[in-house]
Amino acid sequence: MFHARKVLWRTICSGSSRQLHVCIVGSGPAGFYTAEKMLKANKEAEIDIIDRLPTPFGLVRSGVAPDHPETKIVINQFTRVATNERSSFIGNVSLGSSISLLDLRNIYHVVVLAYGAESDRSFGIPGEDLLGIHSAREFVWWYNGHPDCHKLAPDLRSTDTAVVLGQGNVALDVARILLRPPEQLASTDIAEHALVSLQESSIRKVFLVGRRGPVQAACTAKELREILGIKGLHVHIKEADMLKTPRDEEELKKSRTQKRVFELLSNAATSPRSHPVPGQRELHFVFFRRPERFLHVDGSNHVSGVQLEKTFLQEDNSSGRRYAVGTGQFEELECGLVLKSIGYKSIPVEGLPFDHNRGVVPNTRGRVLSDTSDQAALEKGLYVVGWLKRGPTGIIATNLYCAEETVASISEDLEQGILPSTRDSKPGRKGLLELLNQRNVRYVPFSGWEKIDLKEKDEGSLRNKPREKITSWEELQNAASG
Ligand SMILES: Cc1cc2nc3c(=O)[nH]c(=O)nc-3n(C[C@H](O)[C@H](O)[C@H](O)COP(=O)(O)OP(=O)(O)OC[C@H]3O[C@@H](n4cnc5c(N)ncnc54)[C@H](O)[C@@H]3O)c2cc1C
Ligand SMILES: NC(=O)c1ccc[n+]([C@@H]2O[C@H](COP(=O)([O-])OP(=O)(O)OC[C@H]3O[C@@H](n4cnc5c(N)ncnc54)[C@H](OP(=O)(O)O)[C@@H]3O)[C@@H](O)[C@H]2O)c1
Repeated sequence: MFHARKVLWRTICSGSSRQLHVCIVGSGPAGFYTAEKMLKANKEAEIDIIDRLPTPFGLVRSGVAPDHPETKIVINQFTRVATNERSSFIGNVSLGSSISLLDLRNIYHVVVLAYGAESDRSFGIPGEDLLGIHSAREFVWWYNGHPDCHKLAPDLRSTDTAVVLGQGNVALDVARILLRPPEQLASTDIAEHALVSLQESSIRKVFLVGRRGPVQAACTAKELREILGIKGLHVHIKEADMLKTPRDEEELKKSRTQKRVFELLSNAATSPRSHPVPGQRELHFVFFRRPERFLHVDGSNHVSGVQLEKTFLQEDNSSGRRYAVGTGQFEELECGLVLKSIGYKSIPVEGLPFDHNRGVVPNTRGRVLSDTSDQAALEKGLYVVGWLKRGPTGIIATNLYCAEETVASISEDLEQGILPSTRDSKPGRKGLLELLNQRNVRYVPFSGWEKIDLKEKDEGSLRNKPREKITSWEELQNAASG
């Protein structure tokens, strides 16, 4: 074992001392696009992409829905980056516990933080910690086999009604997974524990609740069309909610996405339908409602419903954005499962400037700022990209443009001598692996991921699935070293 590790260490550390040593923290789209752009922009760059998981690709593996296999094809492009001779993936290394930000800044000329948003926005209302309430992030990680949530075990058998709070694409994803007949998921890469649970699920009604109206629904047309198109699904939208004001018309004129979403919702609201038959799956869009408190019956700590407040829209004169204001009228919606899908949130690490209001690292075009109010106060050699830089919005491709901006900033800083030059000796990969070995961190190189990948694909082929995900930390580590 010790010999094998030494050989691996020598193989990984074959760089020259004139190289620009770059460490990217996080192997999601933002991390991989940054590595790709950096390899092209700087021929001396030697890049290490570290990730806290033994598996790469961030939300492409653990966020993108199992019934969207075409979206995951980007993994092939990322694999070419990881196997480039000037880059390497080093998994199972967590910034903040295996290694500190200070360690990385001492070891590398450039550190780019791309570690995404791994926590949740919350409502801060009574009852939020009742059993049966989960964040959409946890639920998604559960069905996608993320090792942090394989034991989540959401109870899908004690109720026929789920409430999803929020109307963005993540809300649509979780609603679709709950409503799709499970046989349609059986040949996807959904985690086996989730497939079994969905096969046994008694959930037949999903309420998608938005605090604003159909004009402001945060989802996109393709995703909406997909859920509305589930065969046999009864869709319910109140026609009264679809009445437009002149101000709505104005808003719709400005955004093609909102216009197409509104049209789809309108068509669904007005299309003739009979009453749902018993056992039929139902999707209810609820607009102009915000949760006031979560309900439970006396003596139980399990959610039994949500008290909603009716809202209306008011315009913020400075931003022009219309926001929801409570009317003081309330109603109750009974349910046994709640998924909060109101956005993700990034988590700061020690020594990192952080804007707690916006939940991002303060930056100017990807350069980390020591002080939000002073654009000139830069943390030299420290950069940020992806959801950690912009906040938790945007599709995979958005991170490509975001990475271009950050890499352009790095290149400018190198040219202007703002960064430590490659003549300043930094140990780079060699130094990182030395530290990890000293600390007994069982890091996983890309070849370790390839072993996991092979094992998952082999297991999957037995069940007519593209892969059977390994979902526990221990099994992932064993598969990587097996
Ligand atoms: C549920 C869901 C579904 C989505 N579906 C789609 C879709 O179908 N199509 C689409 O185009 N976009 C989709 N998106 C959006 C897309 O996934 C994001 O735009 C993109 O993943 C953000 O990239 P990122 O690299 O900033 O973050 P992430 O993809 O989250 O990557 C962050 C990486 O950092 C690692 N990390 C976290 N903390 C640490 C640490 N302390 N130390 C080391 N590593 C760490 C994580 O393990 C992860 O690998 C979806 C998003 C979500 C939430
Ligand atoms: N297939 C895909 O392409 C795909 C799939 C999944 C995710 N994604 C992308 O990933 C990103 C994140 O998606 P997301 O759905 O998490 O975020 P999102 O698009 O920002 O949607 C968040 C939703 O939560 C609501 N919300 C926020 N705070 C709230 C509060 N305090 N009370 C009530 N409602 C609140 C928002 O309503 P308001 O509008 O009123 O704020 C909105 O409906 C998006 O860019 C999305 O497009 C893409």
